[in-house]
Amino acid sequence: MSKLSVKDLNVNNQRVFVRVDYNVPMEEKDGKMVINDATRIKETLPTLKFLVDAGARVILAAHLGRPKGKKDPTMSLKPVAEKLSEMLGKPVAFADDCIGEGAEKAADALKPGEILLLENVRYYNEEEANDPAFAEKLAKLADVYVNDAFGAAHRAHASTEGVARFIAKRGGKCAAGLLMERELQYLGRELENPARPFVVILGGAKVSDKIKVIDRLLDMADSILIGGAMAYTFKLALGNKVGKSLSEPDKVDVAKAAMEKAKARKVQFLLPTDNIIGTPVDTGKLNKKGKPIFDIQHPRANSAADIPDDSEGLDIGPDTAKTFSEVISKAKTIIWNGPMGMFEDKRFAEGTNVVAKAVADATAKNGAKSIIGGGDSVKALNKAGLGDKVTFMSTGGGASLEFLEGRVLPGVAALSDK
Ligand code: 3PG
Ligand code: MG
Repeated sequence: MSKLSVKDLNVNNQRVFVRVDYNVPMEEKDGKMVINDATRIKETLPTLKFLVDAGARVILAAHLGRPKGKKDPTMSLKPVAEKLSEMLGKPVAFADDCIGEGAEKAADALKPGEILLLENVRYYNEEEANDPAFAEKLAKLADVYVNDAFGAAHRAHASTEGVARFIAKRGGKCAAGLLMERELQYLGRELENPARPFVVILGGAKVSDKIKVIDRLLDMADSILIGGAMAYTFKLALGNKVGKSLSEPDKVDVAKAAMEKAKARKVQFLLPTDNIIGTPVDTGKLNKKGKPIFDIQHPRANSAADIPDDSEGLDIGPDTAKTFSEVISKAKTIIWNGPMGMFEDKRFAEGTNVVAKAVADATAKNGAKSIIGGGDSVKALNKAGLGDKVTFMSTGGGASLEFLEGRVLPGVAALSDK
């Protein structure tokens, strides 16, 4: 069922509660928290401009990090209000509490076209608990609800779900924002009748994180290319040795079942035929979490079926990168989720970069629709300077995966039907 759009609303002089995903990467510099990547803020600007032009009184709510009910100042949204104001070129008021008298007064004081950002909703445990009394307090601030937080729509929290129920119960409308609509379009509707060949590239650490998405995409895709550490679990399933590579021996059956399904459905299912491997050497030091730090030495290509006992696979190898690129070059629809290797270390970034380039080329030369499923693949693509060379990059990590799995996202389900 199609959901109501912000464009369907009459918001003039209405108090509009807009849930956004401003969970942006931050870093402390000279005692101040600074934003490392403002993509998630930038992507909400069309919705905000639309609301401002329509004369709405805009109340923004968001979470930052996982403060677990504590008012941790390093997770304050204050720097986000400043950044947003700079990006919009207009003032953004800030309320240092998301509920209560202060927040209510600030919301009531808004004039048409003005914007207020509320402090981190996760300063209250009631947010993640989706506590009805807390959701009702949030609902008191507004007449209308708009959800533009696709990245948090897989959470049934008070500000993503509960508040919409309260506003709807009062007869208020609950609509999707423009970013939310784009995400649902590219990760959903655009894939219903994909132009073929439809190629899916999956990477990342764990088969267990991706198995549901693999299973669903096996029903839709022509080719599935597997990289990242999860490929080592598939190698185990084929009876190969993976040395010290990250793998999940208890997921070997799951990997086998996926390969059987691919065969039965005649889906081309490609695993790496070679890898860049390295030999981890214990430095005797511990990281912040108390885990030993390994120095990876002697990076080299390995095209034998087995990985030596003292080594680990950290990237796809050059032959695999070439094969994957060839398949990608013919694609008309591409989904990519998860890097091919440990791309943060440039010795192990080549496989991911070659794939990124192949995806960008297929988009430009072949008119392929390329959809990047958020999180690390977006980071890798941006790092390679190719972020603007694909059709769509999701702002969701977990949310994009769950949506691609075919799950109903609670933050979407709570919106009014058209
Ligand atoms: C994200 O960054 O993935 C979303 O904002 C959701 O955050 P969460 O995983 O802490 O719920
Ligand atoms: Mg997350």
